[in-house]
Amino acid sequence: MNCNYLAFEGIDGSGKTSFIEGLCEILDKEQKKYKVVREPGGTKLGEGIRELLLSKAFQVPPLSEAFLFSANRAELIETVVVPEIESGSIVISDRSAFSSVAYQGAGRGLGVDKIYELNNVALNGFWPEKIILLDIDPTISLARQRIMDRIGSSEIEFFERARQGYLDLAKKFHDQFLIIDAEKEFTKNQEIICEWLDVGQSK
Ligand code: TYD
Repeated sequence: MNCNYLAFEGIDGSGKTSFIEGLCEILDKEQKKYKVVREPGGTKLGEGIRELLLSKAFQVPPLSEAFLFSANRAELIETVVVPEIESGSIVISDRSAFSSVAYQGAGRGLGVDKIYELNNVALNGFWPEKIILLDIDPTISLARQRIMDRIGSSEIEFFERARQGYLDLAKKFHDQFLIIDAEKEFTKNQEIICEWLDVGQSK
């Protein structure tokens, strides 16, 4: 594996969970030490913030939403991600600060540069080294979703803007991003991911 801090990104229903499970199986076989974290969530405080963010019981204005995501992240990075990496684990993140840039920056229209900067402060500059972007048409991905939380039940145009936000990020940080066509076959995509990460080919 050629990095220590990896994130899976993509709009709702893009299939992050299946790819993360697939990668974990491979890392288990290779006896690699790793930790999976999810955002929002990942700690006791984080799971509390997750409830505030996703429950339909709360109305959360866009800027408050952005600050809540980054508040979660600040704690997660300091108390879990950095210590895990320092102890020799690979950290696999189910979403990361790039979700905020795409969803709050582009999707909510708060501004990509502004949300990048907000998160840069929250992370103290500790961004994921590599990002796998599962790119998919929102009409397809949303049809796959069974449980709709507050953000997941937003209008389709919101996901279209978030998708474009991700693609712009992938272009800007092209050395760090791998774009996967999540409408294509899973096994083939998994092979592409493994090759890019340099894992799982009986190394
Ligand atoms: P997640 O549990 O990963 O949802 P899913 O598995 O359906 O993709 O994330 C919950 C929701 O929060 C999802 O709609 C994406 C959104 N989100 C943001 O808007 N900004 C963020 O920074 C993050 C991490 C998630």
